[in-house]
Amino acid sequence: MSILASDNINTSDEMGTDRISSLLQQRYGTQQELSGSLPETKVIETLLNHRSVRFYLPQSVPAPAVELAISAAQSAPSSSNLQAWSVVAIEDKDRKARINAVAGNQKQIEQAPLLLVWLADLARLRGITDAQGSPAEGLEYLESFLLAIIDATLAAQNAVVAFESLGLGTCYIGALRNNPMAVAKELALPKEVFPVFGLTVGYPDPAIRTDVKPRLPRSRVFHREQYEANPDSGDFSAYNKVLRAFQKIQLMPAIDWTEQMSRRIGTKEALKNRDALSGVVKALGFQIK
Ligand SMILES: Cc1cc2nc3c(=O)[nH]c(=O)nc-3n(C[C@H](O)[C@H](O)[C@H](O)COP(=O)(O)O)c2cc1C
Repeated sequence: MSILASDNINTSDEMGTDRISSLLQQRYGTQQELSGSLPETKVIETLLNHRSVRFYLPQSVPAPAVELAISAAQSAPSSSNLQAWSVVAIEDKDRKARINAVAGNQKQIEQAPLLLVWLADLARLRGITDAQGSPAEGLEYLESFLLAIIDATLAAQNAVVAFESLGLGTCYIGALRNNPMAVAKELALPKEVFPVFGLTVGYPDPAIRTDVKPRLPRSRVFHREQYEANPDSGDFSAYNKVLRAFQKIQLMPAIDWTEQMSRRIGTKEALKNRDALSGVVKALGFQIK
């Protein structure tokens, strides 16, 4: 069964087992049973119902929805409560277009009324120690850069779930990393602040059907006690078939997932300038020892 993006909106407090079974079926493209029964919550429903939205209505995102999503983002766990992230909201069409040029002019960035740029932010912490006249040696290490990326990512995903629960759609934009320096200039980022990814936000266009994209079987990613080599680990033919069916419904070019992944990781060129990232990160002021 396919669900329109506009079906994301939760309007009822009741949700039956059938709804979760149907969402699990969509998530894997095959029948998936649970080993027992549990209360089925709206949070689980929102999570299972996720799909990236690339077609939006022009209607702007209500300010309280943005405010709530940012509070949801701030509710994410944070390494040592360092809160090493920030986010910039962009609604100005010209600025959005300039950022979109970095991302290879993606239609969803043009259409979305709101683009959020999520930042790994060590500048605020640097400011604290500078004001105290104390050292900040820890900021010089890969660990600090990594934790800022992790903090920003957890925060962003909480915002995604909040937006989706309110009937809005989102799409991450990793392509900002094609040229983080240009993004940093456009957003006037201080030293030691890195644009991790963008996120388009808006009301999904109900005229464009967006389905749940099936994932690998749960057993492919879930290990118990130790990482176990899956006996059929080289065989992804079943998943290739499931994704081919998805592509057909979505009118996407037909390609095996394994082929698509091989192309994505096969060459430096497929990284679209992101092979230069380690140098760019250093140029943005991170030391990464
Ligand atoms: C960090 C990150 C960066 C992404 N960058 C882009 C992007 O630049 N353009 C795009 O169309 N989708 C982008 N996506 C969306 C993925 O393509 C999408 O999540 C994936 O195909 C699974 O589809 P789904 O989100 O609908 O389940 C990105 C997703 C993530 C997590």
